[in-house]
Amino acid sequence: MSETVTFKLNGKDVSVPKGTTVMEAARRENVAIPHFCWHPGLSVAGVCRFCMVKVEGRPKLEISCNLQATNGMDVKTDTDEAKTAHKWALEFHLVNHPLDCPICDQAGECGLQDYYMSVGKYPSQMTRPKVLKPKILDVGRDLVLDTERCILCTRCVRFEEEVTKTGALGIFDRGDRAIIGTYPETKIDHNYQTNLVDICPVGAFTSRDFRFKQRVWFLKDKPAICPGCSTGCSVNVYGKPETRTYFRLKPRQGEANGHWMCDKGRETYRHLNQDVRLRGAFTTDAKGHRQDTNFAGAIESLGKRLAGVNPASDVALLVSAQHTNEEYKSLFDYFVGDLGIKNVYQWREPTEKIDDFDGLLYRGDHNANTRGLQDALKQNGIGSGVKNEFDFVAKSGAKIVIAITPEVPSTFPSLNRQLESLTELDFVSFWTLAGTVGDNKKAKHAIPMKGFAEKKGTFTNHDGKSGELAAPFPCPVVDGRDISEIVAALKGWRPTHGNK
Ligand code: SF4
Ligand code: SF4
Ligand code: FES
Repeated sequence: MSETVTFKLNGKDVSVPKGTTVMEAARRENVAIPHFCWHPGLSVAGVCRFCMVKVEGRPKLEISCNLQATNGMDVKTDTDEAKTAHKWALEFHLVNHPLDCPICDQAGECGLQDYYMSVGKYPSQMTRPKVLKPKILDVGRDLVLDTERCILCTRCVRFEEEVTKTGALGIFDRGDRAIIGTYPETKIDHNYQTNLVDICPVGAFTSRDFRFKQRVWFLKDKPAICPGCSTGCSVNVYGKPETRTYFRLKPRQGEANGHWMCDKGRETYRHLNQDVRLRGAFTTDAKGHRQDTNFAGAIESLGKRLAGVNPASDVALLVSAQHTNEEYKSLFDYFVGDLGIKNVYQWREPTEKIDDFDGLLYRGDHNANTRGLQDALKQNGIGSGVKNEFDFVAKSGAKIVIAITPEVPSTFPSLNRQLESLTELDFVSFWTLAGTVGDNKKAKHAIPMKGFAEKKGTFTNHDGKSGELAAPFPCPVVDGRDISEIVAALKGWRPTHGNK
């Protein structure tokens, strides 16, 4: 058992493991200490001088981010002396700040704004003009840097040194001319750039993808798991429920990812938006004419087809590893358990390098639930190991193929080509989010699906750990369903008797 120390925090006895700083202890106790340069995922820099606390018996205030709690210490965060120090530290940070809050993309989630309201509220004493610094700098593929807004907290410099180990950023010049920037002729060039936007406590780093698209106070965020690879990073999905539009993903602290996520993963909200999604179900009549329908109509036409064949030999399932464990269970319980289907094929990107790993988070297996699909296949006595069996479907001779497509197009470069080739088969029922299925006039039957942000369930990551989708957004597509809901409707339409 690790040694603990007990000290007083604002008069309350608090016990923490030896080595814990006052800042960390205060966070555990939900005591807010203003801070800019401290971040739980980075080393301590102690440069912003904002997090001052009073330790009884000591002559001066001290910074809590670099102060280890010790037995008997009596710490106060809310004395008049500490509060005055917070106010003055904030005023110094704002001396050369441009105060362009109305046009700043960080407005609404800016540390300077928030702290001015909680510990500032002083009248400005500035009579001299502010120092002007370079703006709108192109420092990396996903980033825009406005050095005027920077408060020189060095979080970004430490991220580059300690997390990505790329060391691309430094502070140049001295005094009030000091600016943050990249070295001459270089740019930030890695898959973790947007974490700099997240950790920058002000609006100096903004995201090229998100900036000026939406004011953050109009957005709702809900916890989910990134579907971009088998690491399964914990994320928050940000959407605007009124318009059913998604805007961004941000990392949420989790076991698999700590505090970070990669830029590839940040793209995995785009396919959820209506402009690229299959918006409605369709089927094909006896004369071969395609007809738009609703969910019930799509179930009826698929149910009739299934009733007219011997499922065990005439139906094939093509399944990607991007759906939840709960969906696989209901799918296989019905099609394999009840209907006795033997032709179940794994659908994987042919160019994938499944064993690749960048050493930080991003894995070559760009499916969120390879482990879960393998477990489900094994439980149903199908298959042995991860393999791409896409080409087997055309050779299977199945009269009906149910193609449950990969959800995230950015993880599947061959997806559109493969969808196109499937439309050459006799009859394929696409269960999909992909708008390109609707655009393809040769596609005969499709049911729109819910995305990862719109359903409940679990993914099993590369390590065998479960990540939960627990708080769904409403699906922007009226007839969007998850696999379990489609299977339940099929079961309801067509009882399972006599089909084994
Ligand atoms: S750019 Fe942001 S994170 Fe970097 S030093 Fe300036 S304020 Fe801190
Ligand atoms: S590492 Fe994988 S799971 Fe994590 S954010 Fe990137 S793509 Fe998503
Ligand atoms: S947070 Fe402690 S000095 Fe910056």
